[in-house]
Amino acid sequence: MSEPTLEQVDQTVKTWLRESRDLVLKRMATPLNVDQKTGRKDLVTNVDKENERLLVSKIRAFSPDSQVLGEEGFGDQVTDTAGWVWVVDPIDGTMNFVKQRDHFAMMIALYIDGQGVLGYIYDVINDALYSGGPSLGVFKNDQPVAQPANVALRDGLVAISGPLVTEDVMNMPEVIRQSAGFRAYGSAGIEFSLMLTGELITYVSYLKPWDFGAGKILAETLGLRVTRVDGTPLSMLSSDFVMVATEKAQQDILPIIG
Ligand code: IPD
Ligand code: CA
Ligand code: CA
Ligand code: CA
Repeated sequence: MSEPTLEQVDQTVKTWLRESRDLVLKRMATPLNVDQKTGRKDLVTNVDKENERLLVSKIRAFSPDSQVLGEEGFGDQVTDTAGWVWVVDPIDGTMNFVKQRDHFAMMIALYIDGQGVLGYIYDVINDALYSGGPSLGVFKNDQPVAQPANVALRDGLVAISGPLVTEDVMNMPEVIRQSAGFRAYGSAGIEFSLMLTGELITYVSYLKPWDFGAGKILAETLGLRVTRVDGTPLSMLSSDFVMVATEKAQQDILPIIG
């Protein structure tokens, strides 16, 4: 079989995600099985695991020569970025999923030889699927998303993860003081999606590759900056303090964090 076109891959991934959404909604009607991973604030449920197993099996059947990096361990031990690398976060915002039954997302990214090609963030409860990449553009439920305005720090809302604020890491309280306001959502996927639509102008958090893999592709396609918090490039296989920002907000924030 010849290699599928990007449009065919895109349609296929969207079909998987819609099937996964049906599965997750069905499982939400029955009691969740919740376990702790590293501690009481780091949860995993039967649904995170079942959905990752499902998505990884679909990826392997569709694209057997790929590597898959999945949060819950059903993928491969990925140590290099050669070839096709899929990145899967089956439920992003597991704490919200458990406590609120809302404000969580599924995310898939495809990197080819280290370059971001396709990204997907699915806000499950709102049924809002953000998709695309540099050669397709960005879409929300198949409608094009326009490039967000280049808003300065003082004129826009910032989302910063809780520990960075409570522990006063890298002068984040000052970033908040200089902004138009502070918000926190508890799901990197939801926060990236709000960056795409311009509802946020900065998002800062310590993230793992599956937390930022998809969002980075979509945000950069729309001209947003996705870097380490000091403005240097991210490595797609490493965890790091990540800053997503408009160009102007990034310029405003870098001197504040020193
Ligand atoms: C978490 C969420 C959260 C972020 C954490 C992530 P998970 O993802 O995105 O907002 O602050 O760093 O680990 O574990 O719920 O998929
Ligand atoms: Ca997790
Ligand atoms: Ca996550
Ligand atoms: Ca997760």
